[in-house]
This record gives sequence, structure tokens and C-alpha cells, in this order.
Amino acid sequence: QSATNIRVVEPDQPETISRHIYGHFAEHLGRCIYDGFYVGEGSPVPNTAGIRNDIVDALRALEIPNLRWPGGCFADTYHWKDGIGPKADRPTIVNTWWGGVTEDNSFGTHDFLNLCELLETEPYISGNVGSGTVQELADWVQYTNFDGKSPMSDLRRENGRDKPWKVKYWGIGNEAWGCGGHMRPEYYADIYRKYATFLSDSGIEGGLYKIASGASDDDYNWTEVLMKNIPHDMLQGVALHHYSVIDWSDKGSSVDFDESEYFQTMQRSWLMEELIEKHTAIMDRYDPQGRVDLVVDEWGGWYDVVDGTNPGFLFQQNTMRDAMIAGLVLNIFNNHADRVKMANLAQTVNVLQAVILTDEEKMLLTPTYHVMHMYKVHQDATLLDTDFESPVYALDGEDLPAISVSASRDDQGKVHISLVNIDASRSHPVSLNLKGLVSGDMDAAILRSGNLQDHNTFDNPEKIKPVSFRDFRFRNGMLTASLPPFSVLVFSEN
Ligand code: AHR
Repeated sequence: QSATNIRVVEPDQPETISRHIYGHFAEHLGRCIYDGFYVGEGSPVPNTAGIRNDIVDALRALEIPNLRWPGGCFADTYHWKDGIGPKADRPTIVNTWWGGVTEDNSFGTHDFLNLCELLETEPYISGNVGSGTVQELADWVQYTNFDGKSPMSDLRRENGRDKPWKVKYWGIGNEAWGCGGHMRPEYYADIYRKYATFLSDSGIEGGLYKIASGASDDDYNWTEVLMKNIPHDMLQGVALHHYSVIDWSDKGSSVDFDESEYFQTMQRSWLMEELIEKHTAIMDRYDPQGRVDLVVDEWGGWYDVVDGTNPGFLFQQNTMRDAMIAGLVLNIFNNHADRVKMANLAQTVNVLQAVILTDEEKMLLTPTYHVMHMYKVHQDATLLDTDFESPVYALDGEDLPAISVSASRDDQGKVHISLVNIDASRSHPVSLNLKGLVSGDMDAAILRSGNLQDHNTFDNPEKIKPVSFRDFRFRNGMLTASLPPFSVLVFSEN
């Protein structure tokens, strides 16, 4: 088998890979917040104001750039004033979207924003448009951001926080075409304009970054109507949601899957490339200067819940298949760094394609966590161009590109290249031409395992983790290696 030649070159126009592409998402859903991030101050699990210390440490190591909260669908039922003030006095509500469980509001605005401070990450709050009011959202912005004297900043001080947190990122509703209100795009565009008008920029350098609830998958009309009808100085980002789901009515097991299901998941993951290209083409027509960003604020694999768990809690395992989704999709985002400025993996802890799973006092890092960790070198680095023709990964008469690549140069001038081989059974040799780009030597790390279905468990939490990879040659600017089946590799200049 001859090697695939991959040429890595300086781009004509330098583009920064926004670190916000490596963002996360935490919804009041299942065991993401409660019995996930938040165990309460009285818990025997080591915590800081109720937040698990081990989760904070793991996410700090990932250097997560932002965290989206409180939903998802939950956001459009959430009334933030229920979640402030003495915890004992907070009203309960029913989480109608996720399992019909009672929500006691013990985790609210202060808890979330203090968590973001612990994580040194930017909060991204999704506002309630579906069942809230303009006044309610405007008050929330004033509560979190206003430094002077005002009704909401006084209330914040009464609740123990003097200085504002200064939240820059605000979502104006979520999935307005579905759980956010089943709106038509024309109607939502008008609603968006109204909300955006009343949210104060006060105290935020450069103003608030407002994100419109975006399209699902290939609903190109949604993006078109928003781009056409919302003035671009009111709109910093337009969202897009795309999950790697085989079939919404039969998603399959997260662990017991065959190669055909794996292949279909990869098809849905590669589809991200086409979706970004087509949504971007629409945005380019209305916004040729590229002022409005594409924000993929929900993405990841979605399967049936683990047997015996609450169907409304969306708890699934995380295997090497998920590592492939993460490596592949993050490469796609990097390579579209000119328009994709933010993305949020769904979801951080115990829900969907989580980076962390917990079981009482135990915690494990999933293969997806490790991919995110390997790829963090790309955050805020300059994208390099890659030029190659991928060999195919074929199954049952269909094929996909087997290899995905992205490359960047960090602020120290070092080059990093992430490669994914999604082929379930074949290694693929590659030859990377790095002539004129790399002056030092190269190191590499690899994430791989014996079976696609392999995953970390609470009994064996480190079965899958990145290890150093030495099986390559780097001479005269040419790097040659063979990429093992279903593996993720990152080569870094040292
Ligand atoms: O991430 C789970 C759910 O998926 C979110 O609440 C919703 O926005 C999407 O449909």
C-alpha cells in the first residue's frame, strides 16, 4: 500500500483556530449537574461549595474555553430568579424535558458562574425565550454584568456577590424551531431582534456576544432567513446543531454495536463537513466580510441510554467510536476556522458524549476527554493548510475518507498535526511533507485500543489513554508513519 502524501503549508491568509471551538455544554439534564458537577456541600465527595474537585481538576487540565448552561431544551423553561437567594427558600420546578424529575434549583446562577471562575472558563448562558420574557432576560444580564447601582445589581449584592461576573456570551433561546417554541424562522428572527434590543452591553468590552438559535442539521432555510432578517450588528453568532445519530427512532447501543453501525456513525460525523460548507455558503452571501460567526453549540454522538438507566437522562458509554467522532469533527472545525468560531460538545458530564463519567465518589475520563486533551494544542493557534487525497474506508458498497487531518502553529512557533484514521480494520501509511515548516524534532502521542467497542470503566478507568508514539521517521522535513486502524494521533514539534 503506497503512502498518502500530505502536504502541510503556510496559508495564504492566516486564520486563528478560536479556542472556543473546544467549548463544552452542561444542561440540567440527568446526572450532568446534579450528581455530576454538583454534589452539594454536605457530600462526602471532596467539593468546593458543592462542586466536585476532581471534575474541576480534570476540566482545568483540558483548559476548556467556555461552558454553555443551563440548556438545551431546559433553558427555555428556566426562570433564573428561581435559582438565586438562600437555597432553602428556592422553589421547586419539574424538569419536563428530561425525565420529569423535580428540580430544586439548588444549582443556580451564582453556582454556575462561580464554577466558571474555578474552571477559568468563559460562561455562555442560554436565555429563556420560549417561556420567558424580554424583561426577564434583560434582568439576568443586568444581574450578572452591571457594576453600578441598579435593581438587579443590588439584588446580586444581597445574595453575596459584589462584583459582576461579566458574562459576554448569551444565547437568545435554544432550538427555537423545536423545544424552544416550535417557531417559524421568520417569527423567530423578529423575536430575536426584540430580545437583542433590550440586552445591555454595559461593562462588556466589545459588547455582548449574542447567539441566535440556529438550524438543525441541513435546515438551510433557517440560516438563510436569520441572515437575511436580523441586522448583523445585532448578531455575533448563528448556531447549528448536528448530532452523529444513526436513526432517531433506533439509535443503537453505545457499546454493543457492529461495524455497520460504526460506519453509519462515521457517515453522520463526516456530514459535519458538508453542513458547515453549505451553511457557510449562505452566510457568505449575506455577510461577505465574515462578521457573523457559525457556532456549533451542540454536537457529538447520541445513542440509546445504558440499560437500566432513566431514558430521560441520556446516559451513554463512550468508546473508541466516540474518540473517532471527536477527532474527526474537531479536525473539521479547525479546518473551517474562518467561520466556525465556537462549538460545544454535548455534554460535559454523564450525558451523551461526555468527557467525564461519575459513579458516586468514582470518576473516569472517557476516550473523548483524551482526544480533547491531545487537541488542546490547537487552541488559538494559527491554522496551517493541508493538502492530500484520502484513501477510502469502504463498507457494504459505500465509502468514506479514511483519514482526517488538521494542522496549526502555536504562539511559540511550534507545529502540531492531528490525524485520525477511522478505518476499522486497515492501517494507512502517510508521508507528511513539513519542509520549511518545522525546525525542531517531532514527538507524537496516540490514542488507540484493540476494539472499537473498548471503553473505560470504573473498574478499569485507564484502559484507554494516550501514550507516546515512536513508530515514525522524521528526516529532511518528511515525516512517515503508519496510522493504525481507528486511532487518533497528534504530532508536535518539540
Ligand atoms: O443535548 C440534549 C438536547 O439536544 C438539548 O437539550 C437540545 O437542545 C437538543 O435537542
